[in-house]
Amino acid sequence: MGKRVVFLKQLTSGLLLVTGPFKINGVPLRRVNQSYVIATSTKIDILGVNLDKFDDKYFAKEVENKKKKTEGEFFEAEKEDKKKLPEDKKEDQKAVDAFLIKSIEGVPELKAYLAARFSLKSGMKPHELVF
Ligand SMILES: *[C@@H]1O[C@H](CO)[C@@H](O)[C@H](O)[C@H]1NC(C)=O
Repeated sequence: MGKRVVFLKQLTSGLLLVTGPFKINGVPLRRVNQSYVIATSTKIDILGVNLDKFDDKYFAKEVENKKKKTEGEFFEAEKEDKKKLPEDKKEDQKAVDAFLIKSIEGVPELKAYLAARFSLKSGMKPHELVF
């Protein structure tokens, strides 16, 4: 089962920056590997969304904190994160989503489309399908 998300841009690592938006289908701003994504023909207007701050570093920080720390450090970092990072990120998420939702609501059926999951059956060739 897959989710439909909004593609925002490609990062220098080659990973793709996407968002559900979170409010519509629970997918936060995150990076995904291009290999796990199927492009659709549906496009929305994302001009005006400022994506400058979202680069690989923005997301890499999280992973580092989770991976590298010893337990003590981990909990320290966790506390710090709770205070600072997630709030910032929540705000970032809200700002991007608010703009996208406006854009999405301007297109009939698009909100429901994004909220719905889809599945591929074996034998289907994703590249031959039109979404
Ligand atoms: C994406 O996934 C493919 C296949 O699993 C892998 O070869 C590639 O290195 C990944 N790309 C990035 C940018 O992580």
